[in-house]
Amino acid sequence: MIVLGIESSCDETGVAVCQDGRIRSALVSSQEIHRRYGGVVPEIASREHEKWVNPLVDQALKEAGIEAEALDGIAVTRGPGLAGTLLTGVCFAKGLALSLGRPIVGVNHIEAHIFANFLAQPSLTFPFVCLLVSGGHTQLWYVHALQNYRLLGTSRDDAAGEALDKGARILGLGYPGGPEIERQAEGGRPQAVSFPRAFSQADHLDFSFSGLKTSLLYFMDSFRPSANCTLRDVAASYQEAVMEILAVKLSRALEQTGAARAVIAGGVAANRRLRQLCQEYCAPREVIFPDARYCTDNGAMIAYLGEIYLSRGLGSDLDFPVQPNLRLPTQ
Ligand code: KG4
Ligand code: ZN
Repeated sequence: MIVLGIESSCDETGVAVCQDGRIRSALVSSQEIHRRYGGVVPEIASREHEKWVNPLVDQALKEAGIEAEALDGIAVTRGPGLAGTLLTGVCFAKGLALSLGRPIVGVNHIEAHIFANFLAQPSLTFPFVCLLVSGGHTQLWYVHALQNYRLLGTSRDDAAGEALDKGARILGLGYPGGPEIERQAEGGRPQAVSFPRAFSQADHLDFSFSGLKTSLLYFMDSFRPSANCTLRDVAASYQEAVMEILAVKLSRALEQTGAARAVIAGGVAANRRLRQLCQEYCAPREVIFPDARYCTDNGAMIAYLGEIYLSRGLGSDLDFPVQPNLRLPTQ
């Protein structure tokens, strides 16, 4: 089966072609324009998607070496995300499905992040624990099977990605903050500043990042860079505080559920320090993570999961709505 996937939930326009579980082409256009505003401006994002989605689809089909008529179905993100940007992708996808006379499926963006791990390791088997860490979500899931998920823990305030984006702003770095902090942290000492790790001793699997962000704010008030403590040291210490608590809780989730393996998903999963810490804390259990390009928002994960749904006859009616607050169904 050949499926075209379209992602437009936030500020990346992602388009990919997936055939029988393998990605034949994948393109992402990141909207650099938001950098100057220090965050995503929804109206601008919608207009950028409108500009890019058509040429990207043409290019993705070309790189896959197929005509649009060869597609067996269309998959598109239906939520969660920004209402306007979701609408841009969904309207385009519906038009294409209608004109080609092919089925369409509206894909849950969070579920697609989790399933991107099958692109990294096609032999991955259920059940597993997933640490989902993106700009809007920090959650631990027990994944039994497709459409069978149990929420183990979640952030009570900011998401991990949000803590990194806000932290980067406090440190005077650019947007998006996660990759900026990762770059700044290179060569810095992660133990230089002792930032708090909320709930590190608690048995429950929830997170909290707002106190960490506030402590960075207070620290920077009186911070003067010196040989003893550079900006790189502060960035490395802040990154360590975010990533270490994620790794601690992931390993605890494995212990509590008895699952043999864990996966990491979402934009923050692209972070190399997070990957390293998760492997250290969870050993000897296996930790899987997708290629960095399949961690941040992309069309490949939508095409891949869309193909699974369509191949089981689980398509959507053509009038399905966008769902900006969509969640994963919990057991
Ligand atoms: O999954 P994603 O691309 O979009 C959402 O669904 O939210 O995640 C975006 C988040 C942003 O907060 C960004 O700062 C973070 O992922 N991020 C990273 C890295 N790359 C992206 N955080 C840490 N290290 C990275 N290399
Ligand atoms: Zn995402």
